[in-house]
Formats: sequence, C-alpha cells, structure tokens
Amino acid sequence: MTTHVSAPRRHFELVIAANRLPVDQVTAADGSVSWTRSPGGLVTAMDSVMRNRDGAWVGWGGEPDVDIAPLVHESMYLRPVALSAAEVEDYYEGFSNDTLWPIYHDVIVQPSFHREWWRSYIAVNQRFADAIAEVAADGATVWVQDYQLQLVPRMLRDQRPDLRIGWFNHIPFPAVELFAQIPWRRSILEGLLGADFLGFQRVADAQNFVRACRRLLQVTTRGDLVTLTSRDGSSRTTRAAAIPISIDFQALNQLSMSPAVMDRARELRHQLGDPRVLMLGVDRLDYTKGIRHRLKAYEELLQDKAIGPPDVTLVQVATPSRERVEAYRELRQQVETTVGRINGDYSPIGSPAVHYLHHSYPQDEMAALYLAADVMLVTPLRDGMNLVAKEYVTCRHDLGGALVLSEFTGAYHELSQAFICNPHDIEGLKETILKAINTPAHEKARIMRSMRRRIADHDVHRWASRFLEALASAPDHPQRAERPGRRGVLR
Ligand code: G6P
Repeated sequence: MTTHVSAPRRHFELVIAANRLPVDQVTAADGSVSWTRSPGGLVTAMDSVMRNRDGAWVGWGGEPDVDIAPLVHESMYLRPVALSAAEVEDYYEGFSNDTLWPIYHDVIVQPSFHREWWRSYIAVNQRFADAIAEVAADGATVWVQDYQLQLVPRMLRDQRPDLRIGWFNHIPFPAVELFAQIPWRRSILEGLLGADFLGFQRVADAQNFVRACRRLLQVTTRGDLVTLTSRDGSSRTTRAAAIPISIDFQALNQLSMSPAVMDRARELRHQLGDPRVLMLGVDRLDYTKGIRHRLKAYEELLQDKAIGPPDVTLVQVATPSRERVEAYRELRQQVETTVGRINGDYSPIGSPAVHYLHHSYPQDEMAALYLAADVMLVTPLRDGMNLVAKEYVTCRHDLGGALVLSEFTGAYHELSQAFICNPHDIEGLKETILKAINTPAHEKARIMRSMRRRIADHDVHRWASRFLEALASAPDHPQRAERPGRRGVLR
C-alpha cells in the first residue's frame, strides 16, 4: 500500500542511497498511479536490510522528467531524486553504463569518454548528496550503493561531517591499469575517500582500490587503510575491505519448498517436453554475462552430437536491460541471431534446442525454474558477485541440480566446489557442461549441500550487519563533529 507523505519531513537514523528507488511506478489504464517493488538483486538485498528499521531510501524513480513527491511504501520512506531526459542519457546511460561499467568490467567492450557525461555525473551525484543531507538525522548512518554514486561520499562529507558514511560497490573494482584510463580518475577516488568505510565484493577489488589510491593520488596506505591529507593539512582515513553480498536464504529456501513452486517446477519440465537434462541460463541481457560464450559452447556440443533435443534442452532467460546503450543493442542482436541459428539447425519439430525468453519473471516463477533445472549455467566474463548462482543453490533444497560457475564471478570465491569454468575456454566450458550433466547424483548432492551451507551461513542479513558493523567501527572515528549549517564547509 502506498501513502503520499504530507506530514513535515522527517529525519532518519539510516539512509540508503542507490541509483534506483526500490519501487517502480505503474500507471493503470484509468491514469491512476501506484507502485510495485522492483525486481533485481540489489533491491532484494537492501529490502531485507531496511525491513524492521526506521530508514529512508534516496533514489531515482526510473523515469525521466518525472518529479515525484516523497512517499511511504511498505513502511519505508522514499525520497525520490528527479532526473531530466538529458541526465538519463548523460549520467545514467552515458557515464555510468558506457564509461564506468565497461572499465569496471575489464573493458569487455570499449568505454566511451565524454566531458558532458562527466559534468552530468557530478551534477546528479550532487543532487543525491543534497537529498541525503536533507533526510539524514544528526549523526545518522548513510549507506551509499554502487558505481553510479561514487562522488556522493565526499560531497556529503562536505556538508555533513557529522554523518557516518559507507559505500558498497556491487560490481568489480578494476585493476589500476584499467582504472587509470578514466580522465577523471582522481576525482572519483577522492569522492570515495569521503566515506568512512568502503565495501567490495572480493578482496582483490578492495586491493585494486587501495592500489589505485597509492598510484594515482600518492596517498599513504597501510593494509586496508587509506589516509588522504587535505590541502589545509587535516587528514582522514578510510577503510576498504571485502564484504561479499548475499541473498535472503531463508525466504527463498522457503518459497522454493512451497507446494505451488514445486508443482510449477514439475509443470515447467512437462511443458518443456520432460527432457532428461534441462539446462538453464538466467541473466540481465548484458555483455558481461558471457551469454554468447555459453551459446557457442552449447552450439558446438549440439554439433558434436554430444547432446541434443529432446533429450537435452536449454532455457535462456534474458532480462531486458539498458536497451538504449549501443553495446546492449548489439548484444541483443547477436544473441537473438545465434538462438535463431541454433534452433534452425538443431531443433526437431516441437523440441526447440533453446527456449529464449526476453522477459523478467516474478520470484516464484524463477524459483520454479531453478528447481526444474538440472544444470545452471552461470558463465560471466566478469561479474561483481552474481546472485543468480546463489539463488539457484538456495532453491535446491532437494540437493538436485548442478551449478556451472565462471571463475570470473565474485560468487566463485564462495562457491568454488561448483563446476568451475573459464568461459573464454570454449573447449573447457564444453567439458565442464558435460561433467555437470554426467557426475553421479550422490556426488552432486554432496556439492550442493556444502554450497547451501555456505549461503545459509552468509546470507544477506549477515552481509548487512557485517557492513554496518564495519562502518560503525571504521578507523577514523573522531569525536562526532559539530553539525554545521546545511551548507557548512568541511574540514
Ligand atoms: C547491477 C548494478 C546495479 C543495477 C543493476 C541493474 O546489478 O550493480 O546497480 O541497478 O545492475 O541495472 P540498471 O541499470 O537497470 O539499474
């Protein structure tokens, strides 16, 4: 249920800031407007963090040129940040997703550098910082999310030195040799160093960040601590460490055990022709996910007659994403051409080799798909974490199924018992897929049990509390600074 806030603005002890609000606006045929919870890993993760807390969420509503009043949704205070159509192009599609995203994902596609995109990134980050400053109580904890908002910690510190500021990077942090390409690299590092604590998915990401500070800012670093000295001689220390994100194990495990989901899993297998082996891929349609490599390996296995429909089939769910960015359009075309070719070449009537679904699905349908799939293919070329891998394992309470997992995901560092692959090595990927199919059920059950234990012990609640504890005890914990006027200057 949604209520528009008319009461005087409140201040909150915990403020989350992310590029997107955790809701999507839905306009009905009669013109009435309502909100639904948005899909996606970040939203799911933060949703469970905010439950039972008096918190606010600052984010963009997802539509250009729409100014939304603050609202309360499922007892969370939402403070929308408006973006113009030009800002969506320059800050979101441009700098965030066509400059930073490719650089942070090992330059799988070429990044673009445009000064007007950078100016827009600064302007929007400043708007976020202002909105956070407006809703944060004295001494509040602020948790900024992801690569779209890397300047916010510094901008916020400038006007609110009383706040505890943390930032978490959901995506990889690149090696300094790649990061150094960014013309505005120093401003980004200085922006982040406004925080008390910076969280990363992997130890290597935190180390890459510390190394970038050392090389590009010539600052002092000691272990995971970075000390930045300002021009006025004052200094502050930021800690950078790995705290890998997870999912709500209990909730998803329970959902996957529900009779409705289990029935649906059986029904799905039946609708797909009761194959002996059902393989599944679930990704945002993004070039980082290695979908083309996966399809290549699958196509060659069909060509080799190692596998084939109706005995074996592949369901590929590809959720539409960033469709106005050229690299994403090209990827879609390539994937759809390949799927068409594979089906044309290898499918008998009524038994497609690939079932390609360009949609997103609700969580219960995803749980049923996971439960139905004998082999889950998670083959990114680079991925901060990959929550799909953790979701699959969580749904396999029956200890069935096998996870093929790329070593270039954050998830690999926790689930290394999976069937590990290097997606660039097509021959190796083919062998790993066959191994995942042919390993005896009791051995797969043993692997699944141990992976489930890991996720159950390291769920999203633990992730959030570990992050918030690290933030609370971050190194530079001065006496709480006096809060200056709204536009007060920093130290
Ligand atoms: C990744 C990012 C998130 C982002 C999500 C969806 O998981 O880490 O910050 O929200 O992709 O991308 P989108 O551009 O649609 O928000």
